[in-house]
Amino acid sequence: MTDQAQRPDSGIPGKPTSASRTTLSHIMTGNDTNLLGTVHGGVIMKLVDDAAGAVAGRHSGGPAVTASMDEMVFLEPVRVGDLVHVKAQVNWTGRSSMEVGVRVMAERWNESTPATQVGSAYLVFAAVDADGKPRPVPPVVPETERDRRRYQEAQIRRTHRLARRRAIKELREKRIAEGMDA
Ligand SMILES: CC(C)(COP(=O)(O)OP(=O)(O)OC[C@H]1O[C@@H](n2cnc3c(N)ncnc32)[C@H](O)[C@@H]1OP(=O)(O)O)[C@@H](O)C(=O)NCCC(=O)NCCS
Repeated sequence: MTDQAQRPDSGIPGKPTSASRTTLSHIMTGNDTNLLGTVHGGVIMKLVDDAAGAVAGRHSGGPAVTASMDEMVFLEPVRVGDLVHVKAQVNWTGRSSMEVGVRVMAERWNESTPATQVGSAYLVFAAVDADGKPRPVPPVVPETERDRRRYQEAQIRRTHRLARRRAIKELREKRIAEGMDA
């Protein structure tokens, strides 16, 4: 993996955040429940991946695959009958990867209150060509102060992901070199 600072300009024209921002809405049914009768976390994660995938495909203009999903947070239970809105946008772009931020909102079926935030997540997608190899993506162009804050926060997460991955790889190699792991 290369670092953003070392990356040459791809020459692809930028795309504004709003060009690919997407909301998927879904009513929860009895098929979506866990043993407690509330909605299974995996059902929400599937919706999150679907919405983020739609955004990544729109932004990159072609196929994109999920490379990672992190910081999936469940803030409140979702119930049968709730109308769930999954809002996703590209926060940051690298050479071939995109961080997509997702916010999950629930309109309670039996309350007239505004939609409540019930979860959030960050996913990294890689745009791929017909052979499944990474291909360059247009740089995202943040349009608002909120977009710019999300871009900066995504850069921090990217730095931490790379550092953590590197540190774990080095530790494993060291343990193997010292004969501690098979
Ligand atoms: C994601 C994938 C295309 C990366 O391929 P690769 O040969 O490792 O290519 P690279 O190392 O150049 O990574 C490509 C980009 O993805 C990013 N990336 C790869 N793995 C990542 C991870 N685990 N977390 C975050 N970013 C990641 C890299 O940083 C790089 O970004 P950049 O081009 O913006 O710098 C490949 O691992 C893959 O196809 N994975 C399976 C994806 C899939 O099937 N998802 C659905 C699961 S069912």
